[in-house]
Amino acid sequence: MTNDNDSAHRPHHERVLIVDFGSQVTQLIARRLRESGVYCEIHPFNKVDDHFLDDYRPRAVILSGGPASVTTADSPRAHDRIFTLGVPVLGICYGQQLMMAQLGGKVESGTSREFGRAFMTRVAATPLLDDMFGQASSDPDGPGEEQVWMSHGDHVANMAPGFQVLAKSSGAPYAVIGDPSRHFYGVQFHPEVVHTVNGAAMLRNFTHKIAGLQGDWTMAAYREQAIEKIRSQVGTGRVICGLSGGVDSSVAAVLIHEAIGDQLTCVYVDHGLMRANESTEVVGLFREHYNIPLVHVDASDLFLKSLSGVSDPERKRKIIGGLFIDVFEEEAKKIGGADFLAQGTLYPDVIESVSVIGGPSVTIKSHHNVGGLPERMNMQLVEPLRDLFKDEVRALGRELGLPEAFVGRHPFPGPGLAIRIPGEITRQKADILRKADAIYIDEIKKAGLYDEIWQAFSVLLPVNTVGVMGDERTYEAVLALRAVTSTDGMTADYYPFSHDFLGRCATRIINEVHGVNRVVYDVTSKPPGTIEWE
Ligand code: XMP
Repeated sequence: MTNDNDSAHRPHHERVLIVDFGSQVTQLIARRLRESGVYCEIHPFNKVDDHFLDDYRPRAVILSGGPASVTTADSPRAHDRIFTLGVPVLGICYGQQLMMAQLGGKVESGTSREFGRAFMTRVAATPLLDDMFGQASSDPDGPGEEQVWMSHGDHVANMAPGFQVLAKSSGAPYAVIGDPSRHFYGVQFHPEVVHTVNGAAMLRNFTHKIAGLQGDWTMAAYREQAIEKIRSQVGTGRVICGLSGGVDSSVAAVLIHEAIGDQLTCVYVDHGLMRANESTEVVGLFREHYNIPLVHVDASDLFLKSLSGVSDPERKRKIIGGLFIDVFEEEAKKIGGADFLAQGTLYPDVIESVSVIGGPSVTIKSHHNVGGLPERMNMQLVEPLRDLFKDEVRALGRELGLPEAFVGRHPFPGPGLAIRIPGEITRQKADILRKADAIYIDEIKKAGLYDEIWQAFSVLLPVNTVGVMGDERTYEAVLALRAVTSTDGMTADYYPFSHDFLGRCATRIINEVHGVNRVVYDVTSKPPGTIEWE
């Protein structure tokens, strides 16, 4: 296994450290930095110690916002050495207040909290605010106003020595402050959210102009480094990778194959609950296009038989998860075993988040596509995507030459269509759903909407209704269509299709798919709904 703390293995030479104090939007800081070509990692404040800093060696540090109040004695603090590293530091909201509290200023709890849109004006020239206010930084007295997004209860009462005001708003006299000689800056608002119109530009000014970074974090560079890292981790060992047809495992497999060639074997388990043409596409791509050794297991009989008569969603998931491991393990044995298991784990799955309630305890969200297998089979993990966000994985897929149709695919859950057939699952129901879903997705693609939508799919309901086709009475199932927009699947909104579009889908599905005589559209957001129905 690689050692995460070994800086020789870190993905890039220009690293920014984001110290997390538990803000809901800390991940967005990383997104904005990476979008401007800057490599960064998020680490919880209580993990950033001398040892970590010696190893990580950041070129700049950003202190995130957070829900605590620096006026309380036990609130989180930044490690003092951050301020003596000699690198630029930007404090955002709680991070700004923390800098003031730790560097000799004063913070007070406000009598009124400030949330939402605010407008700030410039007080002094600074490269941090270039390209904002609709004017150049050399014109500090111009009339421009800049829309920012505030969300705070406390505020700075006295600045620490060396700091000056750079911008203010009616509610925040210290909206932007800085000590240009030490390259320390603090902002009361949140530059990482889209409501701060030029927030991304401000963060870019911090990394490029204040910290002098090049912004040369590219997928081409990442690909080279990742390949080297895989080679040094795996040596002459054998790697096995479970392919699901999703973008993450596909990109991981192609990257690993580029690094170690036929030391990699992929296993694709068809549980009979895949989308239309999924198996043909996956097998075609890997075996024929990339020439990657691939074991294709048609285990649909086994899965469908085991699921027969099962209606409870959690039981379905457990049965599928357990069988998947059994089949995978059996296939691994057939090819003589493996030393490593490859997984398409992404960065959001491994970020250690600061627990908002209960102080500095840390919760780790882990994600195992084939949970339990590595321990059972005594395999180590190869996770070449664990530094990347989803859209970066797509960019890497393009860099590796994966077809666009594969790279841009909507997410598909491991249990597949099983969780889109509420109630009992049968092969016949799965066939109906597959056909109807293919028509729905075809219409979405024809309308040019596929890439705007995070995920679209159909659900076959265990409800029959009466209809009339020709002169015949019908009594068939209801199909629900679902389409959502989202950035990470954690929250989602339903997609506002036109009535024409929905009508067209309903007509085609009812005409072309035997077994469905009514189509409805799901307009539930998440929360309170979830994206999948089970
Ligand atoms: P929910 O339904 O929880 O789904 O709002 C959020 C996202 O996760 C996907 N999902 C899964 N993915 N295994 C997966 O690999 C699963 O068991 C699973 N359950 C839900 C879902 O499709 C959506 O993108």
